[in-house]
Order: sequence, then C-alpha cells, then structure tokens
Amino acid sequence: MLKVGIIGAGRIGKVHLESISYHVKNAVVTAMADPFMNDETRAFIEGFGVEKIYQDYKQIINDPEIDAVLVCSSTDTHAPISIEAINAGKHVFCEKPLANTVDKIQEIADALKAHPEVKFQVGFNRRFDHNFAAVRKAYDEGKIGDAQILKITSRDPQAPPVGYCAASIFLDMTIHDFDMACFLTNSDVEELYVYADALINPSIREYGDFDTAIISLKMANGALAVIDNSRQAMYGYDQRAELFGSKGMVATSNDTLSSAVISTADGVTGEKPLFFFLERYMESFSEEVRQFVAAVENNTETPVGIHAGMQSVKIALAAEKSANEHRAVKLSEID
Ligand SMILES: NC(=O)c1ccc[n+]([C@@H]2O[C@H](COP(=O)([O-])OP(=O)(O)OC[C@H]3O[C@@H](n4cnc5c(N)ncnc54)[C@H](O)[C@@H]3O)[C@@H](O)[C@H]2O)c1
Repeated sequence: MLKVGIIGAGRIGKVHLESISYHVKNAVVTAMADPFMNDETRAFIEGFGVEKIYQDYKQIINDPEIDAVLVCSSTDTHAPISIEAINAGKHVFCEKPLANTVDKIQEIADALKAHPEVKFQVGFNRRFDHNFAAVRKAYDEGKIGDAQILKITSRDPQAPPVGYCAASIFLDMTIHDFDMACFLTNSDVEELYVYADALINPSIREYGDFDTAIISLKMANGALAVIDNSRQAMYGYDQRAELFGSKGMVATSNDTLSSAVISTADGVTGEKPLFFFLERYMESFSEEVRQFVAAVENNTETPVGIHAGMQSVKIALAAEKSANEHRAVKLSEID
C-alpha cells in the first residue's frame, strides 16, 4: 500500500483526497498540509481518516513513512516543492502547470536526473478521460491513418472572477488543450499562431489576459491542429475533439447526465453537457493516480513525465508571445 501525502488542500487537493480514498485501492492518504488550514477543511480531511494534518508541507517531505506526494498547491509553489520532495526521495505527482518558466521546469528535470529512482508524473488528467483515450486508441490502432487535422473545442461554463488567475489563460486553461494536442497526435508542437481577445469581459485586458482564443498549431509530425477556447459557454462545459487522417476520422461528443432526447410540438431537446471539470473528469482524476501508483509499484515509467510538463509550458509561453506580438512563433524560440 503506497502511503501518500497531499500538499495543498484547495479544490484539487480535496478532489484527489476523495478520489484516492474511494477509487484507488493500492494507495492511502496519510497526511495533508496547507498553510491556510481552517476548521472546515480540517473536518473534511479528517472525514477521510487522514491521520496527519499540517500547516507546513515540510512535515510531509520529512516524514520517512510517506512514499509519495501529490503537489496540489498554488502554481508558483509546484517547482520548489517538487524539487524538495524529489531530493527527499519521494515519488512525485505534480498538478499542472509545473511552473511558469522553462528554467524552473529544467530544475525539476535536473533533480530527477540526480534521483533516477524517483517516479514523477504531471497531472494532465484529460489523457485518462474515456473519450479522449478512445481517440488516441483509434489513432494508435491505425484506424485513422496519418494524422492530418486535429480540432479541439474547449470552453468553460463560466469565467473566473477578473484577477483570479495568476497565470494567463494559456498557462491556466489552454495548457490542458496543448497537452491534448500533443497526446492525440502523438507529437510535439513545432509552431503556432494565436488570435486572442477579451470578448466576455473586456476588463480582463487590464491584466494582460484574454478570455477567448483560436490557436493554430503545426505539429512536429506534420499534422495541423486548431484549438478554440472560451471562458464562458452558456450551455455548459464544452469538451470535444476530432482527429481526421488519411484513413478516416474519430470524433467525441460531450458527456451528459443522460442521453434522453425529448421531442414535442415545440422542438427537440436534450441534456446540457456535464457542468464543469469536477463533474466531467472525476473518473480521469482517479485513473491518472491509479496509473501513477502502478508505475511506482511495478517500477515502470509514469504515463505523463517531465517532457510533457515542459512541452506544454513551452507551448503556452509561445502562445502568449504570439497573442501579444501578432505573429507565428516557433517553439524553438522559447528554448
Ligand atoms: N488537473 C486539473 O484539472 C486541475 C484542476 C484545478 C486545479 N489544478 C491545478 O492545481 C493547483 C491548485 O489549484 P486549486 O484550484 O486547487 O487552487 P486553490 O486555490 O483552491 O488551492 C490551492 C491551495 O494551495 C495552498 N497552498 C499554497 N501554498 C502552499 C504551500 N506552500 N504548501 C501547501 N499548500 C499551499 C493554498 O492555501 C490553497 O488551499 C493549480 O496549480 C491548478 O492549476 C488542476
């Protein structure tokens, strides 16, 4: 049984606590740390039988009984905490994005090189979603042939409050889609061009950010991809992908609570997509950790390593550059 400590008890830290407790049978959460631990959060954590609750994450890093840590704290802490954990010999699962700069991710890569026994995984949970995994499977099985066009639609149901995000839309939200583009075409990105604007809430521009974007990508394997992003779709969380190739096409639709379609004299209606990531991707949060635990147990490679973590951030930084400079940006410029 893998003993896990979770660092960060916010939204995603609680998701992983619940998911591991109910759905990951070879792991147990024994400790959780957050500097802003309040009574409500403490009671929530205690409800899952977690024995050790701290304010200082270092107590988890220094605990010889803990085998692995999940870094679920704010983005700016991901790199320093991951490096400390790696240097202490803990296996690390770190939420996306790994950092806001290439240098900080390189420091994680250097720590991993010095500790080859440590398993490291990035929290790109969408790779483990049943729909997107089926797209990649069809591609791997040769049913689509050579990948030519990938289309990703990724729209949130509601925008966060202005100023909520320390990171840009590209580092916070689109980073998942950048990873999806690489995963679904099994390729890195070579070049991109972005049109972005603040069409939902123009005051987001004051923070140098955007809420709507169209991103065109040239993949290293020759495929072309397009991602469309919105922070606010009035009908719910819109998460779809379509991969078109020399032999055919594979496409996914949104998950809904039911497939019931009601037809009356007034028209034909169906369910809206599941509301947001907690509803849509819960199973993928369990599956990514199951596979992380399996990699530790079997001493095999984790399914989402440091390369994916680095590549996605480079793409996000290139996207910021393209949106601000109104030009195509090669990934090699970010190196
Ligand atoms: N994979 C996904 O789909 C997904 C979804 C949501 C969030 N995330 C990522 O997870 C991270 C956290 O997001 P969130 O929505 O849970 O945010 P949040 O603000 O709800 O939670 C972050 C928590 O980290 C804590 N924290 C800050 N510094 C800390 C430290 N030094 N030690 C321990 N805890 C510390 C904060 O007190 C807070 O409770 C972000 O990087 C975000 O990008 C990923």
